[in-house]
Amino acid sequence: SPSDPDLVERARRAKEKLGDKVFVLGHHYQRDEVIQFADVTGDSFKLARDAAARPEAEYIVFCGVHFMAESADILTSDDQKVVLPDLAAGCSMADMATAEQVAECWDVLTEAGIAEQVVPVSYMNSSADIKAFTGKHGGTICTSSNAKRALDWAFEQGEKVLFLPDQHLGRNTAVRDMGMSLDDCVVYNPHRPNGGLTAEELRSAKMILWRGHCSVHGRFNLDSVNDVRERIPGVNVLVHPECRHEVVAAADYVGSTEYIIKTLQAAPAGSKWAIGTELNLVRRLANRFAPEGKEVVFLDRTVCFCSTMNRIDLPHLVWALESLAEGNLVNRIEVDKETEAFAKLALERMLALP
Ligand code: 13P
Ligand code: SF4
Repeated sequence: SPSDPDLVERARRAKEKLGDKVFVLGHHYQRDEVIQFADVTGDSFKLARDAAARPEAEYIVFCGVHFMAESADILTSDDQKVVLPDLAAGCSMADMATAEQVAECWDVLTEAGIAEQVVPVSYMNSSADIKAFTGKHGGTICTSSNAKRALDWAFEQGEKVLFLPDQHLGRNTAVRDMGMSLDDCVVYNPHRPNGGLTAEELRSAKMILWRGHCSVHGRFNLDSVNDVRERIPGVNVLVHPECRHEVVAAADYVGSTEYIIKTLQAAPAGSKWAIGTELNLVRRLANRFAPEGKEVVFLDRTVCFCSTMNRIDLPHLVWALESLAEGNLVNRIEVDKETEAFAKLALERMLALP
């Protein structure tokens, strides 16, 4: 929907008043009405790096979800304040792994006698607690744009990986990029005793995948791919690695949001694309590339927006910017010192990946 001109003007004025004191980051899944005020846009990896590269900004306004704002707080200096315009903008996937559950899982791995061989690799889409657990146990964070490099690194450190919390990214990377088989992977279910696995299953696995998933990407299925191929002959299917394995296996191209954008930029005029990722981004790409003669459609019209990404709307952004401009620090995201130290270790391992 077109943005309210009054709110647009208020956001513009508040931002102007704040000047260099504020830096606005926007994830690719954000609404158009919000993205227009982002100083930079990017995927989770790019935004983590960009947040860390703005030491002069007193306020980092993060238009994205809670775990991204936490990561920005961890990577920025103590006197920089990270603001999330709506505190209810969480991520259902990140919520699928709690600190307690992961500690219990580590006990199970210890009982099975394998904890020493296991290196945790946690997807960016996880709470600061999970990142701290990862750092404490010698592991690294990854995003969808460096998951293979993170796994390469992890398998140099140990024989097995505990991949948290997205089973699909873990499985897709292991099978598609690392040449492992589906049998090398087991799924640890935090809601069942011992993760629902026997000690023998744990001992023979290479990848222990946490039973988490993205509620948006998990809804694309094999029919989505088959239907679009039938509907649009010659279509290229391009999906995010948070999609289920059957979808990724049937797709032509797989990658992070940043990769999706770059692939479309490089695509020839006349080409047709079905994109399996969040709808705000797909719509924006469809509008952007239509004048160049590239047809971009949503992989499955029954899948909808990420509801928590969508919580950051123009009214919330205006409220946050005007509050800051008036000297009221609102909706600060601050990770406690101890968690931050270990989480930072894990994030820095990621930033140092080749
Ligand atoms: P990327 O931007 O890293 O591709 O991540 C997608 C996502 O689901 C973020 O919530
Ligand atoms: Fe979380 Fe999925 Fe939404 Fe990303 S798209 S924020 S992984 S629920």
